[in-house]
Amino acid sequence: MKRVLTYGTYDLLHYGHIRLLKRAKELGDYLIVAISTDEFNAIKGKKAYHNYNTRKEMLEAIRYVDLVIPEKSWEQKRDDVEKYYVDVVCMGSDWKGNEKFEDLRDICEVVYLDRTEGISTTQIKRELGLQPAVDGIDQIPEN
Ligand code: CTP
Repeated sequence: MKRVLTYGTYDLLHYGHIRLLKRAKELGDYLIVAISTDEFNAIKGKKAYHNYNTRKEMLEAIRYVDLVIPEKSWEQKRDDVEKYYVDVVCMGSDWKGNEKFEDLRDICEVVYLDRTEGISTTQIKRELGLQPAVDGIDQIPEN
């Protein structure tokens, strides 16, 4: 079984995300998506609208996605590849040539997929005039 791993925040899920996930899954048989935790986003200076648990549930509902794991730091990638027996790490082309991924070439394949033009979470937020969420919005009911 060929295992594929990709990273991202996946906030305000959009068509660019879906296309990326579809093509990532087609690179193998099993797709793992590591999504940034709210704490890691804070380190990166980003604030997601949906909190981690909400983003995780939404991704788990997508048929191309087999497993969602937390991305807590920049340094965990090598451990993830080993722990989950990953064959291919793939990212959108905005990451092409970035050493964070290039450094993994001795243990797995690294593939960049073309970004979908004209859409991003940042653009959606800007165009809808969304205010930053306070502590992230949790859409999951308590019970
Ligand atoms: N992606 C893509 N095409 C887009 C937007 C994102 O292929 N139009 C890919 C990214 O390259 C990445 C994954 O989707 O591999 C998750 O990206 P993420 O950063 O979560 O989404 P963005 O919409 O780029 O978010 P932001 O605007 O906050 O950077």
